[in-house]
Amino acid sequence: MDMETSWRFLRSVCLLSFILGSFSVYQTLCLVDAQEDAIVTLQVDASNVTRRPIPETLFGIFFEEINHAGAGGLWAELVSNRGFEAGGQIIPSNIWPWSIIGDESSIYVVTDRSSCFERNKIALRMEVLCDSNSCPLGGVGVYNPGYWGMNIEEGKKYKVVLYVRSTGDIDVSVSFTSSNGSVTLASENIIALASDLLNWTKKEMLLEANGTDNGARLQFTTTKKGSIWFDQVSAMPMDTYKGHGFRNDLFQMMVDLKPRFIRFPGGCFVEGDWLGNAFRWKETVRAWEERPGHYGDVWKYWTDDGLGHFEFFQLAEDLGASPIWVFNNGISHNDQVETKNVMPFVQEAIDGIEFARGDSNSTWGSVRAAMGHPEPFELKYVAVGNEDCFKSYYRGNYLEFYNAIKKAYPDIKIISNCDASAKPLDHPADYFDYHIYTLARDLFSKSHDFDNTPRNGPKAFVSEYAVNKADAKNGNLLAALGEAAFLLGLEKNSDIVEMVSYAPLFVNTNDRRWIPDAIVFNSSHLYGTPSYWVQHFFTESSGATLLNSTLKGKTSSVEASAISFQTNGKDYIQIKAVNFGEQSVNLKVAVTGLMAKFYGSKKKVLTSASVMDENSFSNPNMIVPQESLLEMTEQEDLMFVLPPHSFSSFDLLTESENVIKMPISDSYKKTSTM
Ligand SMILES: *[C@@H]1O[C@H](CO)[C@@H](O)[C@H](O)[C@H]1NC(C)=O
Ligand SMILES: *[C@@H]1O[C@H](CO)[C@@H](O)[C@H](O)[C@H]1NC(C)=O
Ligand SMILES: *[C@@H]1O[C@H](CO)[C@@H](O)[C@H](O)[C@H]1NC(C)=O
Ligand SMILES: *[C@@H]1O[C@H](CO)[C@@H](O)[C@H](O)[C@H]1NC(C)=O
Ligand SMILES: *[C@@H]1O[C@H](CO)[C@@H](O)[C@H](O)[C@H]1NC(C)=O
Ligand SMILES: *[C@@H]1O[C@H](CO)[C@@H](O)[C@H](O)[C@H]1NC(C)=O
Ligand SMILES: *[C@@H]1O[C@H](CO)[C@@H](O)[C@H](O)[C@H]1NC(C)=O
Repeated sequence: MDMETSWRFLRSVCLLSFILGSFSVYQTLCLVDAQEDAIVTLQVDASNVTRRPIPETLFGIFFEEINHAGAGGLWAELVSNRGFEAGGQIIPSNIWPWSIIGDESSIYVVTDRSSCFERNKIALRMEVLCDSNSCPLGGVGVYNPGYWGMNIEEGKKYKVVLYVRSTGDIDVSVSFTSSNGSVTLASENIIALASDLLNWTKKEMLLEANGTDNGARLQFTTTKKGSIWFDQVSAMPMDTYKGHGFRNDLFQMMVDLKPRFIRFPGGCFVEGDWLGNAFRWKETVRAWEERPGHYGDVWKYWTDDGLGHFEFFQLAEDLGASPIWVFNNGISHNDQVETKNVMPFVQEAIDGIEFARGDSNSTWGSVRAAMGHPEPFELKYVAVGNEDCFKSYYRGNYLEFYNAIKKAYPDIKIISNCDASAKPLDHPADYFDYHIYTLARDLFSKSHDFDNTPRNGPKAFVSEYAVNKADAKNGNLLAALGEAAFLLGLEKNSDIVEMVSYAPLFVNTNDRRWIPDAIVFNSSHLYGTPSYWVQHFFTESSGATLLNSTLKGKTSSVEASAISFQTNGKDYIQIKAVNFGEQSVNLKVAVTGLMAKFYGSKKKVLTSASVMDENSFSNPNMIVPQESLLEMTEQEDLMFVLPPHSFSSFDLLTESENVIKMPISDSYKKTSTM
């Protein structure tokens, strides 16, 4: 029995029992159902008069270095604090998370400023006090546990690079072991004569693991007395996306969203609590050994900046997403550069654009080319700062950036931090940035926020949105449903909203600086939160066609949209609807303006037993879209059931040869003669 027939049947039973006076049947079946069977109608105008293209860029992602999204996350480098700089430049310094194997009678470890790398002077000196007779079994040395354990997998290869120097002959074992060193997963020895180690020497080796441990560590051990210096240590899995250094499983989660843009590298990460700790792109390019790294004081962790300016553009290219570079505009959370002094920051931004787009003979384009990418990256959007609109020097600084960039690169689109959703901007911009973090019901209602935004100003970039706090916990269904409604509203307002991205994208469970997030991971495991899966419902939207739709009936808990798209030469209409309420809703879809036959194609539903349910490492797929064939019999009305607390999409294959020639309406005539 299809929905429509069953509904009609139920109605007849109700009417009959009412007439026959069978009140108990009426009461149990019909009163409850009369309440549950709220019918909401979605009127969809499929005629081409009101169709509108959805921007190609609409759905993208925002990558911020927060929660160890990059360092200890997407960036596959296994060693943390690889140059020993994280403890600061004053010696002796803290070498965390490096640790010592052995006790004070057998080993002494200290930092000094003897590195061969000019921008990274700190090196590690290891004084081995014991020898083969007196050293403990397995030797003494140092180890690095990576980011809460390295994921070393049997049969996989890892490239280890390190720099070493010594005053004597050395025999050092370089190995991956289990977290306490008891099991060796791979090992190789560096044996060298003192005469070859007077100067810093680069050692490179490929280790293949013969066992698996997702909490492994890298260690250097020896039983030979003497002094050894180490610096710039890297351990990279050979198996990264295209060998570009991105962790495959996390990359796949991103690419599955079909992101059309990627905003990076922040966020507050770009601002810093203090300017001295802000992300500055020039410190993150060229050879990794020469990158000083920095302490991100907002999210409170050190990054070696292996994921730097170049790697972000490479990531965008690998994702097929348009890069949106956010740079510091001379403003942090606590200090600001006055506009009259901001020119060096402007130059830094111009140089950063040249790095991405300049030809390989330009000053900064040549640096990019030397890093292996002679072709320019396609940079078309930049954002001047992050959330700085209310800062006293923002407008002044912004205009300096705006004018200089428009002069050098007239085609680059510039994004302002100031919100123009309610009132116009007082400065020129191509886009304005809009951020929203709120409770679920509030975000649900904000699906109409852009309905009245002036259409003649800059376009909107909703670069950060999420349901948070008590409604979201670590990322639950309730949050996802509020977001789904919000996104449906943005889709419908995509004549003014051109780009949308959720935030934050990633969280390493060992350092949750911000919850909830879209993708949750540790060294070896990962899953998407319901908020991640909501975004999957919009993968057909960018570049598709919006159909004008109107909801009628009891709609306080329902939001819906209609689009049409083509794939494999076939036309589809896609209805998406969120039911925020706890009652099931019948959605009637009435399509006008198109003489066509619809065939059920695909149906996706995201729901769960409780609206507070979350995915977890132990149950990663509890709340994921359930996909099935959409069964439909021939009928006048399309009737779909929206389960309580659910988000659904219905793809209708459309036989659309016979488009009704719509009579040209008055309003159409008016606009077409304008
Ligand atoms: C509507 O679309 C059809 C098919 O693409 C086209 O033939 C027709 O000219 C369009 N009509 C209008 C008014 O744009
Ligand atoms: C969409 O449909 C509504 C209701 O029929 C109408 O008021 C509105 O003007 C239409 N919008 C567009 C863009 O055609
Ligand atoms: C190291 O860990 C293994 C497995 O977790 C355990 O069996 C062993 O006792 C530990 N060894 C030491 C020396 O702590
Ligand atoms: C794995 O390799 C290490 C280092 O070569 C070796 O000590 C260990 O015995 C090997 N383990 C197994 C299970 O083969
Ligand atoms: C060590 O490095 C210095 C400075 O780069 C160089 O002059 C010298 O020849 C090197 N010595 C050896 C033995 O390579
Ligand atoms: C990562 O999470 C999985 C699943 O909870 C767990 O089995 C594993 O031990 C974790 N890894 C580390 C290094 O803690
Ligand atoms: C760079 O300069 C070289 C030599 O002057 C020239 O042959 C080449 O065409 C230039 N490349 C670009 C991209 O301008």
